[in-house]
Amino acid sequence: MNEIEARIKALREELARHNYNYYVLSAPVISDFEFDRKMRELQELEERHPEYADPDSPTRRVGSDLSKEFEQVAHRYPMLSLGNTYSEEEVRDFYERTARALGEPFVIVAELKYDGTSISLTYERGRLVRAVTRGDGVKGDDVTANIKTIRSVPLRVLGDDYPESFEIRGEVLLPWVEFDRLNKEREEQEEPLFANPRNAASGTLKQQNPAVVAARKLDAYFYYLLGENLPSDNHYENLRVARTWGFKVPDVMRECHSLREIFDYIAYWDQARKNLPVATDGIVLKVNSLRQQRLLGYTAKSPRWAIAYKFQAERAETRLDSVSFQVGRTGAITPVANLEPVLLAGTVVKRASLHNADIIEGLDLHIGDRVYVEKGGEIIPKIVGVNVEARSGALGEKVRFIRTCPECGTPLTRPEGEAAHYCPNSAGCPPQIKGRIEHFVTRKAMDINIGPETVEDLYDAGYVRDAADLYTLKVADLLRLERWAEKSARNLMRSLEASKRVPFERVLYGLGIRYVGETVAKRLASAFHSMEALERATFDELVAVDEIGDRIAQSVLDYFADEGNRTLVARLREYGLRMALPEEELEGRTEKLKGLTIVISGTFSKHSREEYKAMIERNGGKNSGSVSGKTDYILAGENMGPAKLEKAAKLGVRIIHEDEFLRMLE
Ligand code: IVH
Repeated sequence: MNEIEARIKALREELARHNYNYYVLSAPVISDFEFDRKMRELQELEERHPEYADPDSPTRRVGSDLSKEFEQVAHRYPMLSLGNTYSEEEVRDFYERTARALGEPFVIVAELKYDGTSISLTYERGRLVRAVTRGDGVKGDDVTANIKTIRSVPLRVLGDDYPESFEIRGEVLLPWVEFDRLNKEREEQEEPLFANPRNAASGTLKQQNPAVVAARKLDAYFYYLLGENLPSDNHYENLRVARTWGFKVPDVMRECHSLREIFDYIAYWDQARKNLPVATDGIVLKVNSLRQQRLLGYTAKSPRWAIAYKFQAERAETRLDSVSFQVGRTGAITPVANLEPVLLAGTVVKRASLHNADIIEGLDLHIGDRVYVEKGGEIIPKIVGVNVEARSGALGEKVRFIRTCPECGTPLTRPEGEAAHYCPNSAGCPPQIKGRIEHFVTRKAMDINIGPETVEDLYDAGYVRDAADLYTLKVADLLRLERWAEKSARNLMRSLEASKRVPFERVLYGLGIRYVGETVAKRLASAFHSMEALERATFDELVAVDEIGDRIAQSVLDYFADEGNRTLVARLREYGLRMALPEEELEGRTEKLKGLTIVISGTFSKHSREEYKAMIERNGGKNSGSVSGKTDYILAGENMGPAKLEKAAKLGVRIIHEDEFLRMLE
């Protein structure tokens, strides 16, 4: 092994170790800065020496292979579920049943039941080869590329004492802080919120783009080791050893020798779980000895050697005072229950979400009903039922979903396949108009110095009906309004003037096109370069852009199909807002490589790899890091890695050299 290869290997091992310290043990021993420095050194070495490429290198955490559909893979061992219990009585039954069946002493391992989405990882010769979701228990989706983005999942087992092949199962989780952050982002976009971290985790895992998955910062906790030649014949010990291999095995698991110890564990965690960084919904009890597990066996659906005890969700009873319907910027109607304030899980609850018309119908709610409110894994408390027995005398008015907009009276519509109702009067419905202007002025969009109250005042005074009207405001107009003085009026003028220098992608984001958030706006801007080109784009051209799917494409088309929207954009253009990327950025751009995915491999003599990468992008092509069925060309230099060469040959991908590539651009 030469010096460079040795350095690469040492860096990989060191970084894998630091990853483990940081993401699994939460006990980093070097600074982030130091970590990044080492990561960069490794990245540079790998760039310069593709012959030492390794798909398991810590630099490869963010995969770039886009797969449109997941492959289905059969589980080697079926993924069963657990029998659920809800009372200590049922736990006692389980314990006594087990004692009778075994007729000998046994130990129960108590663990937390993590509320995410389950995953089964296969390791061969110490390497992660496959990650499969539960699916139907018999077969699941191959989500390996996504799982590889989870920093706490070892790509390679630590140490060298592990079985040739094994499976480890666990739960993929979105920590509460990440969940809150994600929902906040979605709220700003008026996209449907995830009801709980479980939905968010499974939704994320099914994302087609691993880079999106990486950005959401999932985590994974492990609780079950399977295979032949496991380290031990007991579950607890196997998990303990798996922890030394680099897996995040929660250290809250306990060996219990009596029912008493089990109940103590339950009572303790029923409270203590509220301080955990991830969602839990119960306790899992497992017979420790694998021999005894085999003796007890399975029913059709679940093991006889394990059971889940579910925590009681926190629930309170209170009175339903009224229901209001709120209209958002996109016209979506949100029904909200107004409640007599009640204490629930440490906070006073006055409102609960009623989600949609179907839920309201299902609950058969009447004003004045005594209702049960629950705060399960959900952030917003929800009404789960009505105390029908508490009804006495005359029933209050039945709660029905409204048919017309509470703000403008327009009949509501409900798009096929959606649960939500919308007010279609986007041009004339006041909260929608004000909502769009509020969005337009936000910091991430045009960064104009006014808040919702000012927007309201300007709207009420009749000065603004859309974003473009802001640019027609005069100091004299403002001075006629309450609360405005010369100074504040001038400030607003300055802020409006400054907004004319805001880059195109933020102007695009500011329009508030449904599903066009900050990231999507950036993508569209760099793919189409100008508002004009985007207005002309067809469905096919839109979906050809990386990360733009049918839903976003259709929304963009719908937006520009509306004459009012086109007029608004034209007026904004007239007032001097940026409607294209700056010339410098566009210079030398062509579409010569449009639709082509090119992988760069090896070292070159005429330009650097970075320069080639920039050339591909400037000419409308896509540079990708790894060879797949979607690769059109490999731009190969000296010392192209043997793995890439082999894969290219297998997939029949064309290999071109520097000169040929440069000729393509002439
Ligand atoms: S053991 C055969 N342990 O709960 C036993 N499962 O209904 C396999 N879960 O699908 C599961 N925490 O997604 C086990 N500590 C834990 C768990 C756990 C959460 C989930 C898992 C499983 C479901 C069982």
